Amino acid sequence: MRPVYLIGFMGSGKSSVGKMCAGQLSVPFIDTDTLVEQKAQQSISDIFAEQGEDRFRDIETAVLQNISREPSIIATGGGIVERERNQKIMDENGVVIYLHADFATIANRLQVDSSRPLWNQDLQKRHALYEQRLPVYRRWGQHVIETDDKGLEETVQTIMNVIKQV
Ligand code: S3P
Repeated sequence: MRPVYLIGFMGSGKSSVGKMCAGQLSVPFIDTDTLVEQKAQQSISDIFAEQGEDRFRDIETAVLQNISREPSIIATGGGIVERERNQKIMDENGVVIYLHADFATIANRLQVDSSRPLWNQDLQKRHALYEQRLPVYRRWGQHVIETDDKGLEETVQTIMNVIKQV
C-alpha cells in the first residue's frame, strides 16, 4: 500500500475519516496540520498571526515533503492546493483522494471555528476561497468521493474500497 493523501476544504472530514481508515488498515494516521504545529512549536492561528500565511505554506510543504513513504493515511490541510509543488509531492508518492462536501455542508459543520484563520473571516471571503479551490481539488484528486449524502462510516467504506483497488 502506498501512502494515501486526503485532500479537501476545511471541514470536509479528512481527519475524522482518515483516523478511522488508518485504524481499520492498522497503518499510522498523519495530520499535516499537527506536524506543522510541532515543527513551528506554535498553533496554526499563531503562525498565521505572527509569521503570516506564506510562512505557514512553506512549513506545510516542508512537512509534506518529509513525511515517510511508508503505508499511512495522511490528512492534509485544506490549503495544500495553494502550492503547485505539493501536487507533485503527493502524486509521486501516493494516492490522492479528494473528499468533496458542498459549501453548505461545510458551513454547517464548522459554524464558528476560531482555530482556522481562513474560516474565521467573513462569509463572502470564505465562500470565494471555496469556489476558487473547488476546481483545483477536483483536478488534483486522483479519486473523488462525494461526502454530502454519506455518513462517516459510509465515507470510510468508500475510501477503503478505493484503497483496495489501487
Ligand atoms: C487551511 C486549512 C486548515 C489549516 C489552516 C489553513 C486552509 O486545515 O491547514 O488553518 O488554508 O484551508 P484543515 O483543512 O484541516 O482545517
